[in-house]
Amino acid sequence: MTATILKAGESAYMRAAEILSAGGLVALPTETVYGLAADAANDDAIKAVYAAKGRPSSNPLICHIMAPDHAGEVAQISPLAARMIENFFPGPLTLVLPQANNFSEYASAGHATIAVRCPDTEWRQAFYEIGFRGPLVMPSANISGHVSPTCAEHVFADLGDKIDLIIDAGECMGGIESTILKIDGDRATLLRPGSITAADLAPYVGQIDLPRKGAKTVAPGMLKSHYAPKAKVRLNALEKRRGENYLAFGKTDILADLNLSASGDLKEAASNLYAALRELDTGSDIAVAPIPDTGVGIAINDRLRRAAAERPNEP
Ligand code: TXA
Ligand code: MG
Repeated sequence: MTATILKAGESAYMRAAEILSAGGLVALPTETVYGLAADAANDDAIKAVYAAKGRPSSNPLICHIMAPDHAGEVAQISPLAARMIENFFPGPLTLVLPQANNFSEYASAGHATIAVRCPDTEWRQAFYEIGFRGPLVMPSANISGHVSPTCAEHVFADLGDKIDLIIDAGECMGGIESTILKIDGDRATLLRPGSITAADLAPYVGQIDLPRKGAKTVAPGMLKSHYAPKAKVRLNALEKRRGENYLAFGKTDILADLNLSASGDLKEAASNLYAALRELDTGSDIAVAPIPDTGVGIAINDRLRRAAAERPNEP
Protein backbone atom coordinates (compact mmCIF):
# COMPACT_ATOMS: atom_id res chain seq x y z
CA MET A 1 0.00 0.00 0.00
CA THR A 2 1.21 3.53 -0.72
CA ALA A 3 -0.63 6.40 0.91
CA THR A 4 -2.33 8.93 -1.34
CA ILE A 5 -1.55 12.55 -0.44
CA LEU A 6 -4.38 15.07 -0.95
CA LYS A 7 -4.20 18.82 -0.37
CA ALA A 8 -6.49 19.91 2.47
CA GLY A 9 -9.94 21.04 1.32
CA GLU A 10 -13.57 20.01 1.04
CA SER A 11 -13.08 17.10 -1.40
CA ALA A 12 -10.07 15.75 0.51
CA TYR A 13 -12.09 15.81 3.74
CA MET A 14 -14.93 13.92 2.03
CA ARG A 15 -12.50 11.21 0.94
CA ALA A 16 -10.98 11.11 4.43
CA ALA A 17 -14.39 10.70 6.06
CA GLU A 18 -15.26 7.85 3.64
CA ILE A 19 -12.03 6.00 4.41
CA LEU A 20 -12.41 6.50 8.16
CA SER A 21 -16.04 5.29 8.10
CA ALA A 22 -14.85 2.16 6.29
CA GLY A 23 -12.25 1.43 8.99
CA GLY A 24 -9.22 2.85 7.16
CA LEU A 25 -6.34 4.97 8.45
CA VAL A 26 -5.91 8.64 7.53
CA ALA A 27 -3.20 11.08 8.63
CA LEU A 28 -4.71 14.46 9.49
CA PRO A 29 -3.09 17.82 10.24
CA THR A 30 -3.84 19.46 13.59
CA GLU A 31 -2.71 22.68 15.23
CA THR A 32 -0.03 20.68 17.10
CA VAL A 33 1.33 17.86 14.93
CA TYR A 34 -0.05 15.45 12.30
CA GLY A 35 -2.14 12.62 13.75
CA LEU A 36 -2.96 9.13 12.53
CA ALA A 37 -6.73 8.90 12.70
CA ALA A 38 -9.09 5.94 12.92
CA ASP A 39 -12.75 5.56 13.88
CA ALA A 40 -12.80 5.21 17.68
CA ALA A 41 -15.92 3.02 17.44
CA ASN A 42 -14.13 0.44 15.27
CA ASP A 43 -11.89 -1.88 17.32
CA ASP A 44 -10.19 -3.34 14.25
CA ALA A 45 -9.34 0.15 12.98
CA ILE A 46 -7.85 0.99 16.39
CA LYS A 47 -5.76 -2.20 16.32
CA ALA A 48 -4.54 -1.20 12.83
CA VAL A 49 -3.33 2.14 14.28
CA TYR A 50 -1.23 0.32 16.89
CA ALA A 51 0.14 -2.01 14.20
CA ALA A 52 1.00 0.77 11.71
CA LYS A 53 2.91 2.74 14.36
CA GLY A 54 4.48 -0.30 16.02
CA ARG A 55 3.01 1.11 19.24
CA PRO A 56 2.89 -1.06 22.37
CA SER A 57 -0.72 -2.08 22.98
CA SER A 58 -0.41 -0.84 26.58
CA ASN A 59 -0.08 2.80 25.47
CA PRO A 60 -3.55 4.41 25.25
CA LEU A 61 -4.70 6.77 22.49
CA ILE A 62 -6.25 10.22 22.64
CA CYS A 63 -9.90 10.30 21.65
CA HIS A 64 -10.49 13.35 19.40
CA ILE A 65 -14.02 14.72 19.51
CA MET A 66 -15.65 16.79 16.77
CA ALA A 67 -17.24 19.32 19.12
CA PRO A 68 -16.56 20.31 22.74
CA ASP A 69 -20.01 19.16 23.86
CA HIS A 70 -19.29 15.57 22.74
CA ALA A 71 -16.87 15.10 25.64
CA GLY A 72 -19.60 13.66 27.86
CA GLU A 73 -20.12 10.78 25.41
CA VAL A 74 -16.66 9.38 26.11
CA ALA A 75 -15.78 10.68 29.57
CA GLN A 76 -17.31 11.60 32.91
CA ILE A 77 -17.22 15.37 33.22
CA SER A 78 -16.59 16.77 36.70
CA PRO A 79 -17.19 20.50 37.33
CA LEU A 80 -13.43 21.11 36.99
CA ALA A 81 -13.33 19.20 33.70
CA ALA A 82 -16.31 21.21 32.45
CA ARG A 83 -14.49 24.44 33.27
CA MET A 84 -11.41 23.32 31.34
CA ILE A 85 -13.51 22.26 28.34
CA GLU A 86 -15.34 25.57 28.33
CA ASN A 87 -12.11 27.57 28.38
CA PHE A 88 -9.69 25.49 26.30
CA PHE A 89 -11.67 23.38 23.77
CA PRO A 90 -11.12 23.45 20.85
CA GLY A 91 -7.38 23.81 21.28
CA PRO A 92 -4.10 22.08 22.11
CA LEU A 93 -5.19 20.68 25.50
CA THR A 94 -5.88 16.99 26.20
CA LEU A 95 -7.80 16.05 29.34
CA VAL A 96 -7.42 12.62 30.94
CA LEU A 97 -10.77 11.85 32.58
CA PRO A 98 -12.68 8.87 33.96
CA GLN A 99 -14.09 6.95 31.01
CA ALA A 100 -17.87 7.02 30.41
CA ASN A 101 -19.88 3.84 29.80
CA ASN A 102 -16.79 1.68 29.09
CA PHE A 103 -16.37 3.76 25.97
CA SER A 104 -13.49 1.82 24.43
CA GLU A 105 -11.23 -0.85 25.85
CA TYR A 106 -8.89 -0.50 22.86
CA ALA A 107 -8.60 3.29 22.71
CA SER A 108 -7.86 3.38 26.44
CA ALA A 109 -5.60 0.31 26.34
CA GLY A 110 -7.64 -1.13 29.20
CA HIS A 111 -7.27 1.92 31.48
CA ALA A 112 -10.26 3.25 33.43
CA THR A 113 -9.50 6.74 32.12
CA ILE A 114 -9.73 8.18 28.61
CA ALA A 115 -7.75 11.05 27.07
CA VAL A 116 -10.02 13.57 25.30
CA ARG A 117 -9.10 16.41 22.97
CA CYS A 118 -11.01 18.66 20.57
CA PRO A 119 -8.45 19.85 18.02
CA ASP A 120 -8.65 23.32 16.53
CA THR A 121 -8.70 22.25 12.87
CA GLU A 122 -10.68 22.90 9.72
CA TRP A 123 -11.49 19.24 8.97
CA ARG A 124 -13.35 18.85 12.26
CA GLN A 125 -16.09 21.19 11.10
CA ALA A 126 -16.07 19.73 7.58
CA PHE A 127 -16.45 16.13 8.86
CA TYR A 128 -19.23 17.17 11.16
CA GLU A 129 -21.10 18.91 8.34
CA ILE A 130 -20.90 15.88 6.06
CA GLY A 131 -22.27 13.74 8.86
CA PHE A 132 -19.13 12.06 10.17
CA ARG A 133 -19.44 12.57 13.89
CA GLY A 134 -16.40 10.75 15.18
CA PRO A 135 -14.85 10.49 17.65
CA LEU A 136 -11.45 9.54 16.27
CA VAL A 137 -8.47 8.02 17.99
CA MET A 138 -5.42 9.92 16.83
CA PRO A 139 -1.86 9.42 18.04
CA SER A 140 0.90 11.40 16.39
CA ALA A 141 1.47 10.03 12.86
CA ASN A 142 4.99 8.70 13.37
CA ILE A 143 6.57 5.32 13.99
CA SER A 144 6.40 4.71 17.75
CA GLY A 145 9.29 6.38 19.55
CA HIS A 146 10.27 8.66 16.64
CA VAL A 147 9.75 12.43 16.63
CA SER A 148 6.24 13.59 15.74
CA PRO A 149 5.50 14.79 12.18
CA THR A 150 4.85 18.46 11.50
CA CYS A 151 4.28 18.18 7.73
CA ALA A 152 2.87 15.63 5.28
CA GLU A 153 6.35 14.62 4.09
CA HIS A 154 7.30 13.56 7.62
CA VAL A 155 4.19 11.37 7.80
CA PHE A 156 4.94 9.83 4.42
CA ALA A 157 8.53 9.06 5.44
CA ASP A 158 7.37 7.16 8.55
CA LEU A 159 4.05 5.61 7.50
CA GLY A 160 3.69 6.08 3.72
CA ASP A 161 3.55 2.32 3.11
CA LYS A 162 1.17 1.56 5.97
CA ILE A 163 -1.81 3.91 5.71
CA ASP A 164 -4.45 4.91 3.16
CA LEU A 165 -4.42 8.68 2.95
CA ILE A 166 -2.50 11.75 4.13
CA ILE A 167 -4.22 15.16 4.18
CA ASP A 168 -1.60 17.80 3.46
CA ALA A 169 -2.18 21.21 5.07
CA GLY A 170 1.45 22.29 5.08
CA GLU A 171 3.32 22.83 8.31
CA CYS A 172 1.59 22.60 11.69
CA MET A 173 1.43 25.90 13.57
CA GLY A 174 2.22 24.62 17.06
CA GLY A 175 4.83 22.00 16.30
CA ILE A 176 4.71 20.08 19.59
CA GLU A 177 2.01 17.81 20.95
CA SER A 178 -0.89 19.00 23.11
CA THR A 179 -0.56 19.69 26.81
CA ILE A 180 -1.99 16.73 28.78
CA LEU A 181 -3.79 17.42 32.05
CA LYS A 182 -5.22 14.60 34.15
CA ILE A 183 -8.29 15.52 36.17
CA ASP A 184 -9.34 13.39 39.06
CA GLY A 185 -12.26 15.01 40.92
CA ASP A 186 -10.91 18.44 41.81
CA ARG A 187 -7.24 17.49 41.43
CA ALA A 188 -5.25 18.29 38.29
CA THR A 189 -1.93 16.75 37.29
CA LEU A 190 0.17 17.91 34.34
CA LEU A 191 1.20 14.77 32.45
CA ARG A 192 2.77 16.42 29.39
CA PRO A 193 3.76 20.10 29.01
CA GLY A 194 2.77 21.83 25.77
CA SER A 195 2.03 25.24 24.29
CA ILE A 196 -0.75 25.73 26.86
CA THR A 197 1.43 26.12 29.93
CA ALA A 198 0.77 25.40 33.59
CA ALA A 199 0.62 29.18 34.06
CA ASP A 200 -2.13 29.39 31.40
CA LEU A 201 -4.11 26.66 33.16
CA ALA A 202 -3.57 27.87 36.72
CA PRO A 203 -6.32 30.52 36.84
CA TYR A 204 -8.93 27.83 36.13
CA VAL A 205 -7.50 24.95 38.13
CA GLY A 206 -6.00 26.24 41.32
CA GLN A 207 -3.14 23.92 42.12
CA ILE A 208 -1.53 21.79 39.42
CA ASP A 209 0.44 18.75 40.53
CA LEU A 210 3.37 17.31 38.65
CA PRO A 211 3.62 13.51 38.43
CA ARG A 212 5.53 12.20 41.44
CA LYS A 213 9.20 11.51 40.68
CA GLY A 214 9.66 7.78 40.25
CA ALA A 215 5.90 7.23 40.15
CA LYS A 216 4.97 4.53 37.69
CA THR A 217 4.46 6.88 34.80
CA VAL A 218 0.88 8.10 34.51
CA ALA A 219 1.04 8.83 30.77
CA PRO A 220 2.30 5.48 29.56
CA GLY A 221 3.67 7.02 26.37
CA MET A 222 5.87 9.50 28.19
CA LEU A 223 8.80 7.13 28.25
CA LYS A 224 12.10 8.80 28.80
CA SER A 225 13.43 8.04 25.34
CA HIS A 226 10.36 9.03 23.31
CA TYR A 227 10.40 11.73 20.62
CA ALA A 228 13.87 10.66 19.48
CA PRO A 229 15.83 11.04 16.24
CA LYS A 230 18.28 8.23 15.38
CA ALA A 231 21.27 10.46 16.15
CA LYS A 232 22.68 10.99 19.63
CA VAL A 233 21.54 14.33 21.03
CA ARG A 234 23.68 16.57 23.28
CA LEU A 235 21.82 19.28 25.20
CA ASN A 236 22.79 22.75 26.45
CA ALA A 237 25.69 22.74 23.99
CA LEU A 238 27.68 25.97 24.06
CA GLU A 239 30.01 24.87 21.28
CA LYS A 240 29.89 22.77 18.14
CA ARG A 241 32.23 19.81 18.46
CA ARG A 242 33.85 18.12 15.52
CA GLY A 243 31.45 15.87 13.65
CA GLU A 244 28.35 17.35 15.28
CA ASN A 245 25.41 19.09 13.69
CA TYR A 246 24.63 22.21 15.71
CA LEU A 247 21.07 23.37 16.36
CA ALA A 248 21.11 26.96 17.58
CA PHE A 249 18.56 29.15 19.32
CA GLY A 250 18.68 32.94 19.11
CA LYS A 251 21.68 35.04 18.15
CA THR A 252 24.89 33.02 18.06
CA ASP A 253 28.51 33.19 16.91
CA ILE A 254 28.62 29.45 16.41
CA LEU A 255 28.51 28.24 12.82
CA ALA A 256 25.11 26.62 13.24
CA ASP A 257 23.62 24.01 10.90
CA LEU A 258 20.13 25.23 11.72
CA ASN A 259 18.59 27.78 14.07
CA LEU A 260 15.28 27.05 15.85
CA SER A 261 14.59 30.78 15.97
CA ALA A 262 17.21 33.37 15.06
CA SER A 263 15.19 36.01 16.89
CA GLY A 264 14.93 33.89 20.05
CA ASP A 265 11.16 33.38 19.79
CA LEU A 266 10.11 30.25 21.73
CA LYS A 267 6.88 29.74 19.78
CA GLU A 268 8.78 29.80 16.51
CA ALA A 269 11.31 27.39 18.03
CA ALA A 270 8.53 24.97 19.04
CA SER A 271 7.07 24.96 15.55
CA ASN A 272 10.50 24.29 14.02
CA LEU A 273 11.74 21.74 16.56
CA TYR A 274 10.75 18.40 15.02
CA ALA A 275 11.50 19.40 11.43
CA ALA A 276 14.96 20.51 12.59
CA LEU A 277 15.61 17.24 14.45
CA ARG A 278 14.57 15.26 11.37
CA GLU A 279 16.66 17.42 9.02
CA LEU A 280 19.79 17.16 11.17
CA ASP A 281 19.35 13.42 11.67
CA THR A 282 21.92 12.62 9.02
CA GLY A 283 24.13 10.21 10.96
CA SER A 284 26.14 12.81 12.89
CA ASP A 285 25.40 13.62 16.52
CA ILE A 286 23.17 16.64 17.16
CA ALA A 287 24.22 19.36 19.61
CA VAL A 288 21.43 21.68 20.78
CA ALA A 289 21.88 25.16 22.25
CA PRO A 290 20.34 25.90 25.67
CA ILE A 291 16.65 26.80 25.44
CA PRO A 292 15.14 29.11 28.10
CA ASP A 293 12.94 27.08 30.44
CA THR A 294 10.00 29.46 30.38
CA GLY A 295 6.63 29.45 28.57
CA VAL A 296 6.58 26.91 25.75
CA GLY A 297 10.34 26.50 26.34
CA ILE A 298 9.35 24.13 29.18
CA ALA A 299 7.69 21.81 26.64
CA ILE A 300 10.60 22.15 24.18
CA ASN A 301 13.07 21.17 26.91
CA ASP A 302 10.83 18.25 27.94
CA ARG A 303 10.90 16.87 24.37
CA LEU A 304 14.63 17.55 24.00
CA ARG A 305 15.41 15.64 27.22
CA ARG A 306 13.48 12.68 25.85
CA ALA A 307 15.26 12.96 22.50
CA ALA A 308 18.60 12.90 24.33
CA ALA A 309 17.74 10.05 26.74
CA GLU A 310 19.30 6.61 26.41
CA ARG A 311 17.34 4.30 24.14
CA PRO A 312 16.26 1.12 25.89
CA ASN A 313 16.40 -0.95 22.70
CA GLU A 314 19.91 -0.03 21.73
CA PRO A 315 22.77 -2.41 22.31
O1 TXA B 1 -1.19 17.02 20.00
C1 TXA B 1 -1.49 15.83 20.23
O2 TXA B 1 -1.93 15.45 21.34
C2 TXA B 1 -1.34 14.83 19.09
C3 TXA B 1 -2.31 15.23 17.97
C4 TXA B 1 -2.28 14.29 16.81
O3 TXA B 1 -3.61 15.36 18.50
N1 TXA B 1 -1.55 13.50 19.54
C5 TXA B 1 -0.63 12.85 20.31
O4 TXA B 1 -0.97 11.54 20.60
O5 TXA B 1 0.39 13.36 20.71
P1 TXA B 1 0.12 10.46 21.11
O6 TXA B 1 -0.58 9.18 21.12
O7 TXA B 1 1.32 10.57 20.26
O8 TXA B 1 0.42 10.90 22.57
C6 TXA B 1 -0.61 10.75 23.55
C7 TXA B 1 -0.04 10.62 24.91
C8 TXA B 1 0.74 9.33 25.12
O9 TXA B 1 1.89 9.64 25.89
C9 TXA B 1 -0.23 8.47 25.93
O10 TXA B 1 0.43 7.58 26.79
C10 TXA B 1 -0.98 9.52 26.71
O11 TXA B 1 -1.15 10.58 25.81
N2 TXA B 1 -2.32 9.02 27.10
C11 TXA B 1 -3.33 8.64 26.31
N3 TXA B 1 -4.36 8.20 27.02
C12 TXA B 1 -4.03 8.30 28.32
C13 TXA B 1 -4.67 7.97 29.54
N4 TXA B 1 -5.89 7.45 29.58
N5 TXA B 1 -4.00 8.22 30.70
C14 TXA B 1 -2.76 8.75 30.67
N6 TXA B 1 -2.10 9.06 29.53
C15 TXA B 1 -2.72 8.84 28.37
MG1 MG C 1 3.24 10.41 19.84
